[in-house]
Amino acid sequence: MEIDPNLLSRPVLGIETSCDETSAAVVLRTSILSNIVSSQVDLFASTGGVVPEVSARAHVEAILPVVRQAMGSAGVDYCELGGVAVTNRPGLLGSLSVGVTAAKALAFAYHLPIVGVNHLEGHLLSPIFSGRPIEYPQLCLLASGGHTEMVYIERPQSYRLVGESRDDAAGEAFDKSARLLGFAYPGGRQLSELAETGNPRRYVLPRGLEREATYDFSFSGLKTAVMRLVEQEGERLSREDAAASIVEAITSVLERRTIEAAIHMGARAVSLCGGVAANRRLRERVGAACQKEGIGFFVAPVELCTDNAAMIALAGSFRLASGLNDGFDLECFANEAIARGDDA
Ligand code: KG4
Ligand code: ZN
Repeated sequence: MEIDPNLLSRPVLGIETSCDETSAAVVLRTSILSNIVSSQVDLFASTGGVVPEVSARAHVEAILPVVRQAMGSAGVDYCELGGVAVTNRPGLLGSLSVGVTAAKALAFAYHLPIVGVNHLEGHLLSPIFSGRPIEYPQLCLLASGGHTEMVYIERPQSYRLVGESRDDAAGEAFDKSARLLGFAYPGGRQLSELAETGNPRRYVLPRGLEREATYDFSFSGLKTAVMRLVEQEGERLSREDAAASIVEAITSVLERRTIEAAIHMGARAVSLCGGVAANRRLRERVGAACQKEGIGFFVAPVELCTDNAAMIALAGSFRLASGLNDGFDLECFANEAIARGDDA
């Protein structure tokens, strides 16, 4: 593959602890030398969501073993690293600070530069791991548990928000619907698996803001409709058909808005990222629509769509290559959005 001069020519250690995954990875340009993910989902299956203090404590326990494993399986020594990249925003403050503190300690001990990475930027750049030469400008749909955003990417590090969810994120819509169908948190993946055998036309569910001229999304009406459906149908409810109808409602609106925005903005390619981009139906239908429109299509392998440190190392590699070093003053921030453009 062509060598991107905007990426660091030395391996980068990435660290991610913004939510319920402790992850460390070593990435050299666009090659992943290791990517270790230790998930906390089992801890939260019974609580129906992440409990911040419990999450932070679990990160403390996992962080050093996960970093050691990432370095060990990459076969890279600390002194060979070109720097450390760590998610410092947005996310749970207690969880973020575990990763940032570990990154600072390593940077101090091994005299390495350190850069803070926006978790969302990590997701936005993850389609680079598709393994094909990437095209810009790109219209990227970022759909995760906390965010649903369409972002115009002129090139790496140049992002403009085009549209976003006005209420629930797409992943949240999956997870809340999954809960109503009896799945443990988060449930989006299990609901999608059940949907494979169901009839997507059995139940009619709302596609939020369908008739409005906007690039925004709304998923709260879907959640209410699923709640009503479960109540009304009771024992008669076909869980397979309900799951398939939910997947259809969410993916059809995501696909249509993304393709419309890409055409309107003259993007050369469309990309998908975030946990919901792991959804087979979404990947398939957006891929098919891009092919029909003659637009490029990029998405990372499924395991790199959900939270991981490889995408953080990649985003950090661009920053480190341009000589940035945030130093030991690096702070954590609970919120930091991608800036909204005014021409959407
Ligand atoms: O990006 P991510 O790992 O974490 C956040 O930054 O939020 O996304 C997690 C979200 C969850 O809502 C999860 O249910 C959803 O992605 N998800 C899926 C699938 N795999 C994960 N949703 C639909 N289909 C899937 N296959
Ligand atoms: Zn994420």
